Amino acid sequence: MGKNYSDADTASNHSSADSLAQLLQLRLSRRQLLQGAAIVPFMSLPLGCASVDSRGDSGEIGFKSVSSSTADGVRVPEGYNVGVLYRWGDAIGSQAGMPAFLQGAANSAADQALQAGMHHDGMHYFSLPYGSKNSTHALLVMNHEYTDDGLLHADGFNNWSAEKVKKSQNAHGLSVIEIETRGGRWAVVRPSSYARRVTAQTTIRIAGPAAGHALLTTEGDPAGNAALGTFNNCANGYTPWGTYLTCEENWNGYFVNAGTIPPDQRRYGVTAKGFGYRWHEFDRRFDAAAHPNETNRFGWIVEIDPFTPNAPPVKRTALGRLKHEGAALSLTADNRVVYYMGDDQQFEYIYKFVSRDAYNAADRAANRDLLDHGTLYVAKFDADGSGTWLELSHNKNGLTAANGFPAQADILIRTRQAADAAGATKMDRPEWTAVNPRDKSVYCTLTNNTARGAKDQPGVDAANPRANNVFGHIIRWHEQSGDPAASQFKWDIFAMAGDPLLADTNKRGNVKGDSFGSPDGLWFDPAGRLWIQTDVSTSVLNSGDYAGTGNNQMLCADPVSGRIRRFLTGPKGCEITGITMTPDGTSMFINIQHPGETASERSDPAQPLAVSNWPDGAAADRPRSSTIVIRKDDSGVVGT
Ligand code: FEO
Ligand code: CA
Ligand code: CA
Ligand code: CA
Repeated sequence: MGKNYSDADTASNHSSADSLAQLLQLRLSRRQLLQGAAIVPFMSLPLGCASVDSRGDSGEIGFKSVSSSTADGVRVPEGYNVGVLYRWGDAIGSQAGMPAFLQGAANSAADQALQAGMHHDGMHYFSLPYGSKNSTHALLVMNHEYTDDGLLHADGFNNWSAEKVKKSQNAHGLSVIEIETRGGRWAVVRPSSYARRVTAQTTIRIAGPAAGHALLTTEGDPAGNAALGTFNNCANGYTPWGTYLTCEENWNGYFVNAGTIPPDQRRYGVTAKGFGYRWHEFDRRFDAAAHPNETNRFGWIVEIDPFTPNAPPVKRTALGRLKHEGAALSLTADNRVVYYMGDDQQFEYIYKFVSRDAYNAADRAANRDLLDHGTLYVAKFDADGSGTWLELSHNKNGLTAANGFPAQADILIRTRQAADAAGATKMDRPEWTAVNPRDKSVYCTLTNNTARGAKDQPGVDAANPRANNVFGHIIRWHEQSGDPAASQFKWDIFAMAGDPLLADTNKRGNVKGDSFGSPDGLWFDPAGRLWIQTDVSTSVLNSGDYAGTGNNQMLCADPVSGRIRRFLTGPKGCEITGITMTPDGTSMFINIQHPGETASERSDPAQPLAVSNWPDGAAADRPRSSTIVIRKDDSGVVGT
């Protein structure tokens, strides 16, 4: 599994649906593929940047690019400023207690449960009061993806104990914090009746078609409808009724199975050693040989209502079980909700969920279980630029009892195997998806896939046209007739990442403007600017193919012209992820994840500041993942 604990990407898809590569050789030359955007002409783009959104914003990109950087700080364009809002270890502001962050990682597991978790990731801004468009007072909800135990404990993995496992578990999950502006600056409200942590120890209801299935029952939960915790929460989504969706990604790495690993565990990447979190040593449910069904209780999308602090979060099984990256919302003309979702691993798939029922804008409570009913699809990208959503429903596309899928619940628990059977297209690590508010076209980051074209691995295809794809690309599609529920679409490649001046034609990009690699976070602002965040693994950052490319960064693209400008560069060893904005567009919130990360992704506790002292600078004891706020000096809309 190598050194990547968080975004471990080694393929576990050994299914044989791989006919596109052959098709491709017939239909398109390699040169055409590398040019990407030439594959499908988009004659019918409904509008460009000439129109304005409801706030009068044309979507024009007005800032001057920043250069790439290896500096240990956040750099933004002239006329912009940055504030640090919420760091790992800051008190959430719970009425139950507000422990201060202690030097030397001295906080207890109990303290950690009342403080910001580690490794901030996906995030969403919910105006307060509910239903308003307030841009000065809100609930901010965010994921804490994983932990660097070299920073979390004074002596790292030495003297490993139940307390350390609990502290790690309490540093996972998500935060709900209340924030407001005071004298023009954002601050966390403490205490707040909304402040809340959800961790790997929080009871979470399991709902939808797979709830109660025999494969979800355990010793501790014979009914199979109450899981303990959520973890490795990566990207996110939200609902029109004001709830947050958190997506369980590399959950497999917390389990170990020292016995014979069953094929269904292997298909999801469960191994003998896991990723080294060592939870199983003191929390036996992470021994996947002894508790095989515990693995089936992770890999879901979890819905949480930030406005109702006592409501238990809910795993929504109708959206399938993957290594979920994000859930990008679109709406049909009749108000059914649609979510686009990536499964982030080499050669995995892109999915879509369409709800059965329309959401009720007038009655919030009526939407409470809306995500329990709907249809799941997986994408097949054909070489001619067309595509099909393959329905993952019982008795469709070969998903029958005879083929190992006795009911819909089995399809949802074994979603990857169902998608294999249906014949989906194996992609280059689908990360975030984003929906263009102007035309409902959908974009997806394919972060990289160095195994593409390697011995015994799938070769290139039209949608994944590079062997050894170290820099990744961004694909997009338009649903037929602009209907998010359509079963057909047209696709093209928005950008091949990588420097357009590179000598190596396979690695060379076709980006118009500032270059980048390993795109991950992806988000449209309400005016239709596309924000791209990068996650080059620390093991390759600023070396090898990535020598000279600088620290991870955020860029802004015009989806019509394809022009891309670098907006921000992050501190050393970080990933840029998570993005949300106030309704008026004047404050953007993003997360700086794992500043100071080392190539092993596990810091040396004796030298916690070896790479970075961001954000605390000279006073730093540890580098700390943090939410930052970006504003314009003239209080204008960010991006203009
Ligand atoms: Fe957690 Fe796929 O990024
Ligand atoms: Ca990450
Ligand atoms: Ca990610
Ligand atoms: Ca990533």
